[in-house]
Amino acid sequence: LEKIKNKKKLCVFFLFVQGKQVTWCLMFCVSTAVIGSLQFGYNTGVINAPDEKVQNFIRNVTQERSGEPMDKSTLTTVWSVTVSIFNVGGMIGSLSVGTLVDKLGRRKCMLLSNILALIGGGLMGLSSMCTSYELIIVGRLVIGAFCGLCTGLTPMYVGEIAPTALRGAFGTLHQLGVVIGILIAQILGLELLLGSQYLWPLLLALTAVPAVLQCVMLIFCPESPRYLLITLNQEEEARQVLTRLRGHSDVEDDIHEMKEEALKMSMEKKVSIPELFRNSAYRQPIIIAIILQLSQQLSGINAVIYYSTKIFRYAGITEAVYATIGVGAVNTLFTVISLFLVERAGRRTLHMVGLAGMTCVILLMNANLHLSISVLAILAVFGFVASFEMGPGPIPWFIVAELFAQGPRPAAIAVAGCCNWTASFLVGLLFPKLLDLCQAYVFIIFLVLLIIFFVFTYFRVPETKGRTFEDIASGFSNAAGSNAANYTSPEGAIAMPVSPSSEKFQM
Ligand code: GLC
Repeated sequence: LEKIKNKKKLCVFFLFVQGKQVTWCLMFCVSTAVIGSLQFGYNTGVINAPDEKVQNFIRNVTQERSGEPMDKSTLTTVWSVTVSIFNVGGMIGSLSVGTLVDKLGRRKCMLLSNILALIGGGLMGLSSMCTSYELIIVGRLVIGAFCGLCTGLTPMYVGEIAPTALRGAFGTLHQLGVVIGILIAQILGLELLLGSQYLWPLLLALTAVPAVLQCVMLIFCPESPRYLLITLNQEEEARQVLTRLRGHSDVEDDIHEMKEEALKMSMEKKVSIPELFRNSAYRQPIIIAIILQLSQQLSGINAVIYYSTKIFRYAGITEAVYATIGVGAVNTLFTVISLFLVERAGRRTLHMVGLAGMTCVILLMNANLHLSISVLAILAVFGFVASFEMGPGPIPWFIVAELFAQGPRPAAIAVAGCCNWTASFLVGLLFPKLLDLCQAYVFIIFLVLLIIFFVFTYFRVPETKGRTFEDIASGFSNAAGSNAANYTSPEGAIAMPVSPSSEKFQM
């Protein structure tokens, strides 16, 4: 039997990630889903580089239509709407995830969401040909809705197909996709590539290419086994999918855990969004999920991502665009580092390390904005994004899927995603005004918020590393059902019982 097992193992090509086996099938499915993350990153970053060209286009179209150029303040308003409507779309998309995933399934939902990418990309690409800047605005709204769906769908699908011991590392791949997307947009947006006066519509429309690629790849991806077994009650199909994903037929542990979750779910009524706040078993994890999302956006990361060029110019750097590409590169590098650390150090620790790092860097950045020492400015910005990617970047995206069992997961992901997009919308809207108002001291606001989020994480966020979904969820139910004091660990964080199944994954 041992020999047969060994032979079987040899037949499947295994990749070793931190000593754990990953099959090609699993890698393929995760890569397919992560195209959605890439799309989110690309569309987040794409509008920054060609901003002057697109604004010129808006001005020219108005001149052509009415014979008069658009005045500066109207142009600023139209431009702000063009940029921020993406987030409005994101709020709508992320909020719809909950209803759609349970009706259509994770895979079909990803497949259909690409229709939005094709429509959005098409509208933006045609804007110049049709001399209509309105097409860019509508296109950004549609693309925003698509990206809102992606920020829910990708972490959910990846979290549900990944083996427990690698859920964090795989979850970080979502953020890796995002930062690579941002970097690609920054590079392609260079004037000598697609950021030129004539090619910017192509830059905006390029999002259609990964959409087609993902559709083709999705044909070969299976549905999430958790959805098949827990939501559709199709045990045999779930077993087959798990066998493909794990590369062996010994999947009884997973099936057993899912069945337990299904049993629990059948005893509860369907979890709607209001139910998340009413039911004491969900209240604590949903508050944690929301605060973690806020800690990501209100850390000020997008103020840096969007305005790094401005910060660099302010510090006297002439080739600011290239320094901004450096930001994208550091962003990517540290997400990779986090990927390898997250299953060792744990989510809670890395999140705190990241928040603390960002806090320290802000202090340095504030001093630097006064001194205008260009090398220090670059180091400070690099340090800020590096710290962000250690924890606050990747962790909030995938931890929501970990904090909830199958029943409340879609509703929780919808709420958390919508909070993230709303916070990002507010930062985009308010940061320029705050910058005018507070000048170099603007980052003090983020400093205060970062400290609050650090304290919250220290006292309230539990470690989810290596624990099954079932185990995490029951930890919250138990804590809600008994005296909270009994669940406070010596370090102050909520400690939850660790089941034998989770213990074996502890490193
Ligand atoms: C996260 C944020 C996103 C930000 C990015 C930067 O994914 O959600 O808003 O732009 O990180 O790396």
